[in-house]
Amino acid sequence: MAQLLPVDTFDLVIFGGTGDLAMRKLLPALYHRDKDGQITAESRIIAASRGALTQQAYLELVEEALKSNLAEGDFDEAHWKVFARRLHYAQADAYEHDGWGELNKLLSGYEERTRVAYLATAPGLFGAIATGLKSNGLVTEPSRIVLEKPLGRDLDSARDINDAVGQCFAENQIYRIDHYLGKETVQNLLALRFGNSLFEPLWRRSAIDHVQITVSEDLGVGGRVEFYDRVGALRDMVQNHMLQLVCLFAMEAPSSLDQNAVRDEKIKVLRSLKPISAEGAKKHSVRGQYSAGAVNGETVDGYLDELDGGKSTTETFVALKLEIENWRWSGVPFYLRTGKRLKAKHSEIVVQFQDVPHSIFPEQEYNVSPNLLRIRLQPDEGVQLSVMAKEPGPGGFELKPVSLDLSFAETFGVRYPDAYERLLMEVLRGNPALFMRRDEVEAAWQWIDGIIDSWQTSNQSVESYVSGSWGPSAAALMLDRDGRSWHQED
Ligand code: BG6
Repeated sequence: MAQLLPVDTFDLVIFGGTGDLAMRKLLPALYHRDKDGQITAESRIIAASRGALTQQAYLELVEEALKSNLAEGDFDEAHWKVFARRLHYAQADAYEHDGWGELNKLLSGYEERTRVAYLATAPGLFGAIATGLKSNGLVTEPSRIVLEKPLGRDLDSARDINDAVGQCFAENQIYRIDHYLGKETVQNLLALRFGNSLFEPLWRRSAIDHVQITVSEDLGVGGRVEFYDRVGALRDMVQNHMLQLVCLFAMEAPSSLDQNAVRDEKIKVLRSLKPISAEGAKKHSVRGQYSAGAVNGETVDGYLDELDGGKSTTETFVALKLEIENWRWSGVPFYLRTGKRLKAKHSEIVVQFQDVPHSIFPEQEYNVSPNLLRIRLQPDEGVQLSVMAKEPGPGGFELKPVSLDLSFAETFGVRYPDAYERLLMEVLRGNPALFMRRDEVEAAWQWIDGIIDSWQTSNQSVESYVSGSWGPSAAALMLDRDGRSWHQED
């Protein structure tokens, strides 16, 4: 395993510090990094929130959260006592900037340290909190601010947020998080593409027939239904996570791993995405919403039941056919799909290579299937390449696809750190390469806004799909029209 070095002593203030993200993801991630010796004893993690909480009550909340959110066996009583010493609580209301006395007191005298404000709140509060930090004199030179997604709900609101935060922090102090960029296998895409010479000559239209990207979830929207109903799958998953995957997959080789070299290449991909027009929307996109069904052997409610019988046309599933208009990818469709309450939690990129140009194996007798490269993001992270081989035996000549299979867990035999562990350390180290720059977020919104407009103009309906399936039949039809089908294990 790569050597883990401690990061410089820091003060990390988490706004929304008692909320779901902090409790479920951020604190467990920090606990792990602390346990591995990456957090110095003097560093402080300060939860800022509206409620009045004693230090003791806050610690009880965190202890409870760690016990339920860390993997079995990862909570260690002795280490909890050490970690608890780093934790502090300060009452602060996003809009009442005069009432930030506790925070001011805690931070006063520590101006030289790395200072990070992590905004794990609704995006509507980002501007107000940034302004509060500035008006309280809390934005020091070594300060950084982390913005959680969603960054707005369209291009205009994203620009407003970027403008408001930009009044208080310089662009190089702003870290816009997309947790997919912290996933080990997503970073492995860079290793696969640019650490091997094997793939580069094949990574283009002359060798690739098409690319499929699936991010499926078996869970429904559950407790987030009110929030989700205003958002939908396109904004929740495609605008950020899936487009980032497309960018890393399709971008040209950056000249280095430098933050701007990578981001400069990613934005070129975003700017090359062909807009989905109102006329093309029905052919190039599918919207779906789950109805009741069974997932993993358990019966589950439909989306509208979770919404308390309300009416809604919000999509919980989306499939898109995307085209990248540049020399490398012209004519290579990228099929994307993501949804809730699908058959399994499963994320992967499948690259289908072209058929052999001339087959010496007659079609009537042999089944020659195209080579597939599967990059599995979760679960069971790894890479699999399927090639045709001759089945052993002295009889006839039988062809079979076989897999050259690399399971990362088996190969490296280590625990896969959660994406937040990696990303928090990158913020604390001051490396924004794995975060989104303002122009990237806005370019992504611009393309997404175009789809939403097209859906509205063409009155694109939402197809119902049964929970536990692979989504609406229209998603299969979209590929069928092109003579293709989704690669999935049924
Ligand atoms: C979040 C979305 O950004 O990503 C959620 O808001 C989704 O709706 C989640 O469930 C998926 O993340 P992961 O890491 O579980 O694939």
